Order: sequence, then structure tokens, then C-alpha cells
Amino acid sequence: MKTNILDINELDFIYPDGTHALKKLTVSFEEGKKIAIVGPNGAGKSTLFLVLTGTYKPSGGKVYLADKDISYSRKDIMELRKNIGIVFQDSNSQLFSANVYQEISFGPLNLELSKDEVKRRIEDAMIKTGIVNLKNKPIHFLSGGEKKRVAIADILAMEPKVLLLDEPTAFIDPKTSNELMDLFDEINSEGKTIVLSTHDMDKVYTWADYVIVMKEGAVIAEGVPHDIFLNNDLLKEADLEKPWIIEVYQELIKDRRKLVTKGVPRNKKELFELLVQC
Ligand SMILES: Nc1ncnc2c1ncn2[C@@H]1O[C@H](COP(=O)(O)OP(=O)(O)OP(=O)(O)O)[C@@H](O)[C@H]1O
Ligand SMILES: [Mg+2]
Repeated sequence: MKTNILDINELDFIYPDGTHALKKLTVSFEEGKKIAIVGPNGAGKSTLFLVLTGTYKPSGGKVYLADKDISYSRKDIMELRKNIGIVFQDSNSQLFSANVYQEISFGPLNLELSKDEVKRRIEDAMIKTGIVNLKNKPIHFLSGGEKKRVAIADILAMEPKVLLLDEPTAFIDPKTSNELMDLFDEINSEGKTIVLSTHDMDKVYTWADYVIVMKEGAVIAEGVPHDIFLNNDLLKEADLEKPWIIEVYQELIKDRRKLVTKGVPRNKKELFELLVQC
């Protein structure tokens, strides 16, 4: 049965300077899915994540976590933070401890867990994110990609139900970026819901189960990747790039009525299978 881990209803958020960043935003995140949030700069993606983790209190509207009405009282904010982990757009604003081990231990140490459980969680998070070798390294010596891995390990050690990842592969080299996407798949296969914001439409197209398009503080479209990326009017309206696989496919099928296709390819492998016929 389909269950939503988060339901957001007519959410409003106004910054102290009067910027109306979220405008009656209504959307739901289905449990266990890989969800991408896309939209131009300033659409409100980061603001939404910050409201969902209790950093900001909504100016209006409702947030439900697994059907529970979140009132943004201290207790409810704790509940949000326990269940929803966030990796910030800028790792420097997330990491504050002296070294990697201390950084990852900070969260679990505050959860009233046994010593053994804390140790297990930290080690598990370091192994998953591939940073065991960085264990004793000072945070300020780490490269951008290494910091990103530590920030992800930080939230994995908290074992949240939902991971909000704000542009996790921006400024990350292509190999690391692919490794991170594989890691997100692995985390998702363990039952966690992943909500990722990015400007990389190629990644969204092949990775996401579901895509949410934001513009000017509201959701203007949502659907499976094919619904979003084959809709030229929507791509134009939201200033989104068409994934290159779709562009190549559309070129290929032009004037080639005999080409046998199983639909629009989702990844390179499916596209290459088509190329063999040409
Ligand atoms: N601290 C702040 N004070 C005032 N306005 C802000 C603040 N942070 C963000 N905004 C404004 O809120 C709106 C939404 O910004 P937000 O950072 O959520 O967009 P975004 O979709 O994450 O964009 P990007 O793709 O550039 O990361 C923008 O108009 C921005 O200028
Ligand atoms: Mg942002």
C-alpha cells in the first residue's frame, strides 16, 4: 500500500526581510521513494528543506510526518530532526567538530544510545560513505568532496527515515558524484526515503522515481521522469534542461519509422541498444 512519509499542505514561508519564499506549497513524499526536487535558482528548494527540518517555522500551512500534525513546538521539532536528516548545500555550514570521528559521533552521542550502539553507527556510516581512512583528519583539511561524504555520514549515523539532500553533487568530481548517487541508491534500498534537489537533469532523469518541479515558491508540476522530461512546455516554463539521452533519442527516431523501440530510453545502456539498429 502507498503511504506518505511527509504531507505538506499550503505551506507558506516568509523571511524576516519580507521575501515570500514558499507560497501555499502543497506536495507529498511517498515513503521509500527516490524523489528529485528541481527548479530554477530561488525557487525555494533549500527553504523547503529548512522548514522540513525545523530550522524555520512555517508562516502558514501544515506539515504532517507519517500523518502526525507537526505543530513546530520544541517537542515536534525534535521529532522532525529525529526522522529527517539534511545534507546542506554548503558542507561548511554543516560541519563544526574538530575531526571526522568527533563530527560523526556528535549526533548519536545525543540520542541516549548504548556505547556499543554509538560505535556501531559511526563505523557503519564511515564504511558506507568510504571515509574510514579520514577518521582522525581535521575537518578543515578535507577537500569539498570529502566534506560532503562526512556530512552524509553525519546524518546516516542518526538513522533518519528521510534524507533531504540539497544539491549533494554540486562541485563534486564526476567519479565521486557517481559514487554518491550509488550510495543514495543503497541507502534507499534499505527503505529510506530520499529527497534530492539538484540542477543536474541528466541525473534526475535516470535516478529518480518521482520528480517535483518548483518555481517561485510553489510546485508547478510533478510526476514520473518521463512525464516531466517529455513535456517541452513545462521544461521551458521551469527553465529546465532536457536530459541528453532524450535529446539523442528524439534525433534518432526522426524519419526512422523502422526503428524498433521499447519506449524512451532511461539510461545509456538502453540508448546504446537502440544505436545498434542504426
Ligand atoms: N536568509 C534569507 N533571507 C531572505 N531571503 C532569503 C534568505 N534565504 C533565501 N532567501 C530568498 O528565498 C527565495 C528562495 O531561496 P532558496 O535558497 O530557497 O532557493 P533555491 O530553490 O534553493 O535556489 P538555488 O537553486 O539557487 O539553491 C529566494 O528568493 C532567496 O533570495
Ligand atoms: Mg538551494
